[in-house]
Amino acid sequence: MTHTAPVTDWATDFDVMDPGYLKDPFTIWDQLRQSCPIPHTDRRKSSWMPLRYDDVTAIAHDIEHFSSLKVAVIPADEDEDPNENWDGPSLEYGLPPISADPPLHTWTRRLLLPWFSHKRVDSYVPLTRELCRSLLDGFADKGHADAAADYAQQIPVRVIARILGVSTDMADTFTEWVRDVLEFADDQERRQAGVEGLLYYFVDQLAQRKEHPGDDLLSELLHTEVEGKQVDDGIVLGMAALVLIAGVDTTWSGIGSALWHLASHEEDRKRLVAEPDLMPTAVEELLRAYSPVTMAREVTQDVEYAGCPMKAGDKVLMNFPAANRDPEAFENPDVVQLDRAHNRHVAFGSGIHRCAGSNLARMELQVALEEWLTRIPEFTLAEGEEITWAGGQVRGPRILPVVFP
Ligand code: HEM
Repeated sequence: MTHTAPVTDWATDFDVMDPGYLKDPFTIWDQLRQSCPIPHTDRRKSSWMPLRYDDVTAIAHDIEHFSSLKVAVIPADEDEDPNENWDGPSLEYGLPPISADPPLHTWTRRLLLPWFSHKRVDSYVPLTRELCRSLLDGFADKGHADAAADYAQQIPVRVIARILGVSTDMADTFTEWVRDVLEFADDQERRQAGVEGLLYYFVDQLAQRKEHPGDDLLSELLHTEVEGKQVDDGIVLGMAALVLIAGVDTTWSGIGSALWHLASHEEDRKRLVAEPDLMPTAVEELLRAYSPVTMAREVTQDVEYAGCPMKAGDKVLMNFPAANRDPEAFENPDVVQLDRAHNRHVAFGSGIHRCAGSNLARMELQVALEEWLTRIPEFTLAEGEEITWAGGQVRGPRILPVVFP
């Protein structure tokens, strides 16, 4: 059951979909870190939300008590059987490796990693650069743009489509499905529509690749053997859906947040234009300060963690974004320092599930910002126009009007 009542006590009844929290979670985290660093809620499902760096990383490493079998921050309605009235393809293995524990996690992750190695990612740079330039061509002369919808949102989905070997013509539809699954998960109908769209599409794509294999990720997974056996089709389906889901909203949110920061912090924008060599550390710092991704864990057995009586079946929301703003882990965490030297941020998670696509995400962020700043070095938020933020599992701007000379 979904509750949307206003929050009166963040320590005992927090809501990650609260409109004020979506806009500015930072002050709420700061207050809670001092009074109650692991708040609880019974909204949606009994859930805990660690906010300190040490707690988030400790729980991420304790895979015995905290399972990844259910990682959705906004769980499907408890009273609703998702398979009722549904006889289409299902995700019997979930979305491995992200929603798997070892041993399934270990070998499915190993199959994905080579596709996102430094060498492979370098080979995707030209197509990413070309894509960014053509998007900029569409609005650079107009003096205004929606930096989220016209730019950030358009990039990762097309790069991922190329890696998966599926048509980039489907980019808008992919984006819609991924948003249905992650951003509108509170709306059961939209969530179901997104899941159905993705699954039917990939079932069909897999069938085609069985007949006519290419040199893409899907074909390779279908023709891979693990311990002498071909990988089960259901596992390949889950992995294919995961790569799309994990690679789209996340990176687009990161690019959008970075552009929001540069549009609203003139000094940092000017500095990055003047000192382009700062780009790699700037990307890390922007990832730290505006980390998009929160993932859930499920408590496997009753356990008391830091005085919190966690019950088997409870959720733990791994608030990597809040951990990255913890003053005990980062000096002046709320200040963006483009040249921050010590930056062990956990925007990509921590432990065995650490992001498998981090090299790709970093490259896309860097190229997207480089190309934007080369073409539009001066830009600000459009005065009086509303900016909207998505949140829950993935936080980032969805409408971001900017103006430039
Ligand atoms: C800025 C962009 C991104 C951010 C902030 C991000 C963040 C994360 C985080 C926090 C996790 C850990 C999940 C957990 O602990 O449960 C994760 C896992 C993962 N990410 Fe990313 N991600 C990004 C982009 C990408 C991209 C571009 C891909 C490529 C397809 C990708 C693929 C994956 C996969 C496959 C996993 C699962 C790894 C495992 O379970 O072993 N991510 N990501």
